[in-house]
This record gives sequence, C-alpha cells and structure tokens, in this order.
Amino acid sequence: MSKQRGFTVWFTGLSGAGKTTLATLLASELATRGRRVEVLDGDEVRTNLSKGLGFSKEDRDTNIRRIGYVSRLLARNRLGVIAAAISPYRSVRDEVRQAIEAEGAVFLEVFVKCPIDILAERDVKGLYKKALAGEIKEFTGVSDPYEEPFDPEVVIETDRESVGASATKIIQALEKRSLLPVSYTMLESALTDLDLATL
Ligand SMILES: Nc1ncnc2c1ncn2[C@@H]1O[C@H](COP(=O)(O)OP(=O)(O)OP(=O)(O)O)[C@@H](O)[C@H]1O
Ligand SMILES: [Mg+2]
Repeated sequence: MSKQRGFTVWFTGLSGAGKTTLATLLASELATRGRRVEVLDGDEVRTNLSKGLGFSKEDRDTNIRRIGYVSRLLARNRLGVIAAAISPYRSVRDEVRQAIEAEGAVFLEVFVKCPIDILAERDVKGLYKKALAGEIKEFTGVSDPYEEPFDPEVVIETDRESVGASATKIIQALEKRSLLPVSYTMLESALTDLDLATL
C-alpha cells in the first residue's frame, strides 16, 4: 500500500454540474478504503491560494495552474488528489495532465456533464438566473466559454445518474488502474463468476 501510485482525479464541468458533491463523496469513500486524499475545491482555492483573481481567461488559467501545481506536488508523494474546479480551458487542463504524468502519477479527467437548462433549473447558487438575465458577465457556459474535454477518462451525466452511481463510476476507473485496494464486493463478484464446480 505504501508504494501505491499517486493520482489526481480532475473534475471539470459547468457550475452546478456536481463537482463539489462528487468530490466530497469520493474523498470520504477513498479514505474509508485506506487512501490518503486531499481535495482542492475551486471555491475554497479562490478564497485563499487564488484570492484576488478574477474570471478573465488569464486569471482562470492562473487559478488552474496553481491547483495543478499543488496537485502535482501531492500526487508525486503518492497521495490521492481530487481537484474540483470548473477549469473551462482545454489547453491548461492538458498542461496540468502532462505535468502530473511526468511525475509518474496518474491523471484522471472526469467530465461532469449536465445540460445548461437543467443547471439553470437547479441553480444551486442562484447564479444562473442572474447570468441568464445578463447580470453576470464572464459566467461559464452562459457568457464565457467552456471547452469540453475531447477524451476524458470518465464522463458523468448528472442529469441522468444518481450521485452514488456517478461516484461508483469513478471508483471503478481507479480500481481498473490498480489505484485502490480491491474491495470485498469486487472479490465477491469475481468469485461468483468463477465456475466453482470446475475447481
Ligand atoms: N450524479 C450527480 N452527481 C453530482 N451531483 C448531482 C448528481 N445528480 C444531482 N446532483 C446535484 O447537482 C448539484 C451539484 O452542485 P455542486 O455544488 O456539486 O456543483 P459544482 O459543480 O461544484 O458547482 P460549482 O462549479 O459552482 O462549484 C447538487 O445539488 C447535487 O445534489
Ligand atoms: Mg463546487
């Protein structure tokens, strides 16, 4: 276990899509499974590490590079990192991926997808109403760009999946890459698949 590789689960998606919700659930599940994890949530980072940055492309890129930098340091020390920021620009996400992979850690891009009309209905923070009314400029998906990933490791469709089902998809992706100890449920299903009569 101590020799397990570090990784970064990198959530990307529009505001209200489900990044923080999934990051919280995933962090607690990974801790239960014996992995040391750290969460870097967009909102929290903007109140400390990136305090003072705005929402221009330049500031957004700086914010993501900072989250990427911290993720790299932690992941190369074999921690599991969960980054949950909108991260709207593809090229900076790819830049972070390369930096983390260059350290021998795994980068797992998780596209948290949800149609904008559902997000506006959810309006978790009450921002879509304002953005759609033209009161917020530089609001991702409404008045600012969002570049979908071309080839993410996991796609989550939060308008169709329960939170639990979405988290399970990510856990399975980590298990597939041997980043988590094998769970009892997996062992159980592997054993059921074996034809015990032939043993
Ligand atoms: N499968 C799912 N995964 C995650 N969230 C879901 C899912 N299905 C429904 N939801 C709901 O969607 C909302 C997501 O809000 P959340 O704050 O996690 O978004 P966010 O992506 O972190 O937004 P922001 O970028 O503004 O911080 C929550 O109310 C959550 O309950
Ligand atoms: Mg959030």
